Amino acid sequence: MMTNRREFLRLSAVAAAAAPALGVRGGAVSAAPEPSAAASVMFSAFPHVQLLGGDSVGIAWVTAVRATGRVTWSQDGWATEHVAVHGEDGLLDANSFNHKAVLRGVDLRKPLQYRVHSRRIGKFDVYGIGYAGDEVSYESVMDAPLPDDGVLSWAMLNDIHDNLKVYDCFLSHLADVRTMCIFNGDVMEDLTYEEKFKRDFLHPFARVSQEYRLPVWFVRGNHDTRGSLARQLRDYVVLQNNHYYGAVTLEGVRFVFVDTGEDKVDCTPVYQGVNDFDGYIARETEWVKREVASREWKTARARIVVQHIPAPLCKDGWEPKLKRLDALNEVWKTANVTLMMGAHLHWWCWSDPWEGRPYPLVVGGGPYLGNPAKHNNATLTKCRLEGRRLSAKVLDQTGKTVVDKEIRV
Ligand SMILES: [Fe+2]
Repeated sequence: MMTNRREFLRLSAVAAAAAPALGVRGGAVSAAPEPSAAASVMFSAFPHVQLLGGDSVGIAWVTAVRATGRVTWSQDGWATEHVAVHGEDGLLDANSFNHKAVLRGVDLRKPLQYRVHSRRIGKFDVYGIGYAGDEVSYESVMDAPLPDDGVLSWAMLNDIHDNLKVYDCFLSHLADVRTMCIFNGDVMEDLTYEEKFKRDFLHPFARVSQEYRLPVWFVRGNHDTRGSLARQLRDYVVLQNNHYYGAVTLEGVRFVFVDTGEDKVDCTPVYQGVNDFDGYIARETEWVKREVASREWKTARARIVVQHIPAPLCKDGWEPKLKRLDALNEVWKTANVTLMMGAHLHWWCWSDPWEGRPYPLVVGGGPYLGNPAKHNNATLTKCRLEGRRLSAKVLDQTGKTVVDKEIRV
């Protein structure tokens, strides 16, 4: 839980001690920017950056007190300063704990300098609004997700299930990742109270964005839909078009992120009738159909699908038991997918194409640490596209590459 400066620095130091290559960018060692004493008091979750599109990113953070929220940003050393605020209906962000803003017109080929600003609200009467104290800021940097060499590099973490030691084990391997870190679902076991949510979700996201200067892309897993706070999750993150699914084209590569929802039927007794994933997945599938018919998809030089519950693994092998996912996976069968990145199985593997899934699938492991030989142990999946060579590697907790595949695109 990132509640104070000492804790923030302690966690940074832990990661640094475990990883000599921490945050090495172009030969310079970077670490999370040191927050001021005032920032340590003001921010109870430091900002994370979510990639949203080819020229936009979202930034979200949480304050310990009711406050305002805005972002200033620059890509030329603050010679030009832009302002991003949340509040397109005329009411700017104020008197709230959760803060977010969308930065539009960002050049992903350049580093992004940004500052989040919040000012404590002292009173918020109908005709009497007052501040308590000065505005507090925290400044940070996102490295260019699209470096000059044209190489795309991204990583996937999945099925962490609140096991924070997984991050200490794997984050140092993000040092050479430039484009994004995908969280492919089940980041949490459940969403039950805010402090747990900060510790197990927002803090790791902030570590990736602050220590490794990377944007994230969050893909929801079935466990991320559970608990009394699950319906408020969207308040703490920035979503493309306000959906848990979305797509982006980067260097001619189309990435599609799919929300596969719960892993049980809606009438399962524990849901007590408050879920409608049948309707939701059906609507999302219609969006996927439009996506694969789009020019963006058809003209892409590679098409990457990321979804928590993957398509059928192999003939007579694991397959999703949910009828509602059949239509979705049927769409992918004829869509010329280059690679699917999956999770959920708690079993890392590479699966070659077969007639039921005519494209390759890589699946990350489970939340466990201890015996790296076990396929249910945690992994980090790293992909790199250089020219026409797409490599997909799965690293175990010792850093050993246990899957090493290459696809010509
Ligand atoms: Fe799952």
